[in-house]
Amino acid sequence: MSAASQTSDDKRLETARRAAEEAGRLARRFFEDRETLLIEAKGPQDLVSAADREVEELIRREIARDFPDDRVLGEEFGAGGSDGDSATGWVVDPIDGTQNFLRGIPQFVVSIAYRRDGEARVGVIHDPNAGETFWATAGGGAFRDGAPIRVTQATRLEAAVIGVGHSPRHEPDVFNRTITALIDAGAQTRNYCCAAIQLAYVADGRLDATWDPYLLDWDVAAGMLIVREAGGDGVPFRPGRKGPHADTLIAGTSGVLAECRRRTRMFDD
Ligand code: IPD
Ligand code: CA
Ligand code: CA
Repeated sequence: MSAASQTSDDKRLETARRAAEEAGRLARRFFEDRETLLIEAKGPQDLVSAADREVEELIRREIARDFPDDRVLGEEFGAGGSDGDSATGWVVDPIDGTQNFLRGIPQFVVSIAYRRDGEARVGVIHDPNAGETFWATAGGGAFRDGAPIRVTQATRLEAAVIGVGHSPRHEPDVFNRTITALIDAGAQTRNYCCAAIQLAYVADGRLDATWDPYLLDWDVAAGMLIVREAGGDGVPFRPGRKGPHADTLIAGTSGVLAECRRRTRMFDD
């Protein structure tokens, strides 16, 4: 990798961290005042409010201040008027965990990634309630609040804790059969209803893997890089394979994923 692209990754990391922390402060203010928010449904179990939109607008402004020519793909405003694909540009989920947020459950994060030629270069996940920020740059390692982080060394499902997620966008059986196989194998599962925090937790060794049969680009773009830079493994996320921007998420420590492949049908879909 050239020194120039490392420098530009570092500059974008700085922007992403500042934007994520500012966005987290705004999200917390909305969270404390959430009774005043008008909640709209984008689809079954898919809610949104002005908080999601205003937080995304803030992030877009912060990015535009430092990198006015960069493209931004965000959950609430899509490609934001720019055309073409999203192989190079920012990928933003302003609030991952909106259902938690709207119900008063303090488990939601801001997720910001930057990708060049289809490859994630920068990933930042900020949890404003825990006051934690996870980040990585391609080839530069993964960190929580400045301290290096690593995935676990786990190999046995009997001792593993695995993040899971599901949505009405896939057949229930896809979820049910994998959950049954994981529990039969002796694993524990966690669903924080916040895909990005589950990826950050894998990177930080709090979970051994995470899986969701249907997620969107902005749910995973930052987290997949952070897991990889923390020594984790996973199936490359190919947005579009399961619908616009969608694919299955599988990420974790390589030993546990090998066992999942052998003992569940998680890799089949
Ligand atoms: C959701 C969360 C959740 C996942 C849902 C996503 P949102 O994102 O990541 O964990 O199970 O499928 O839609 O809507 O809160 O940004
Ligand atoms: Ca999301
Ligand atoms: Ca969101």
